[in-house]
Amino acid sequence: MIGLSLLAFVIASISVADTTKVAAEKVKHEYVGADKCKYCHKKDGVHPSWLETKHAKAWENLKPEQQKDEKCIGCHSTGTTAKGVLLEGVQCEACHGPGDDYRKKSIMENRELAIEKGLLIPDEKTCLKCHNENVPEEFRSKEKFDFEKMKAKGVHTLAQKVEEKKTE
Ligand code: HEC
Ligand code: HEC
Ligand code: HEC
Ligand code: HEC
Repeated sequence: MIGLSLLAFVIASISVADTTKVAAEKVKHEYVGADKCKYCHKKDGVHPSWLETKHAKAWENLKPEQQKDEKCIGCHSTGTTAKGVLLEGVQCEACHGPGDDYRKKSIMENRELAIEKGLLIPDEKTCLKCHNENVPEEFRSKEKFDFEKMKAKGVHTLAQKVEEKKTE
């Protein structure tokens, strides 16, 4: 009897593991690049103001040999598209998640659905993926990462507009 229930347990564990794997594969979203977001987020000022940030220039600030250095690429780029194109610099999707499944208008207009399809609302943890102890010392800021301060300085200028929207 003990042997049998153990067997049942093992089988159950295997099938649980299998479903988790399938679920994990389903939620894999692909990167599309900031140009795809620009189409809709130009008029609201998000894309143009992002272009002014250091994030948008994080790739061109690397020297050519550094752009080939695995030790530098990760934090100075966003990810790779389904076609294998490296997205240079810290683009929208580095903070908001890969966008192929949420960028459709009908989905974007529905915040809950967009989040379900992979849209991330960034918080401090998002920034700390790159703003951490692994930044080479010569480039690392001496100050401790202050989310509110860095958000005001480094992210596109929408916070203000959002406040306006809320008070309308
Ligand atoms: C087809 C048009 C369209 C495209 C393409 C698009 N968006 Fe949106 N997005 C919208 C609309 C419409 C809203 C909801 C209204 C608003 O906030 O402007 C929105 C809202 C958002 C929000 C706010 C979510 C919230 O409620 O806090 C984020 C973040 C966002 N989009 C990021 C992106 C990113 C990143 C991309 C590119 C991968 C992208 N969008 C592509 C139309 C689009
Ligand atoms: C763990 C993520 C990470 C890695 C790895 C990384 N960087 Fe950076 N890098 C950053 C961050 C974050 C900043 C901004 C620092 C700040 O202002 O706090 C930065 C800043 C810089 C700057 C400063 C640009 C300016 O505006 O002054 C240069 C240049 C740079 N990094 C080059 C490199 C090189 C070269 C490598 C590889 C040897 C590298 N980085 C590896 C995250 C990283
Ligand atoms: C360095 C990280 C970062 C990058 C890069 C970035 N964003 Fe954001 N974005 C944020 C943060 C942080 C917020 C504010 C989230 C909050 O607290 O609601 C935000 C908010 C937004 C909002 C919603 C504002 C609202 O109405 O609530 C939109 C739309 C948006 N981002 C689109 C974009 C697009 C499009 C790009 C690329 C052109 C982009 N973001 C690049 C971090 C980033
Ligand atoms: C994918 C990695 C990555 C993520 C995620 C990221 N950053 Fe950065 N950030 C960088 C790099 C790299 C630089 C330096 C770019 C350069 O100057 O070449 C930087 C620079 C900055 C700067 C400019 C610093 C200066 O000295 O002027 C600010 C501000 C900033 N980030 C804020 C944020 C905030 C806030 C978040 C989260 C909402 C965030 N970052 C998320 C990689 C990242």
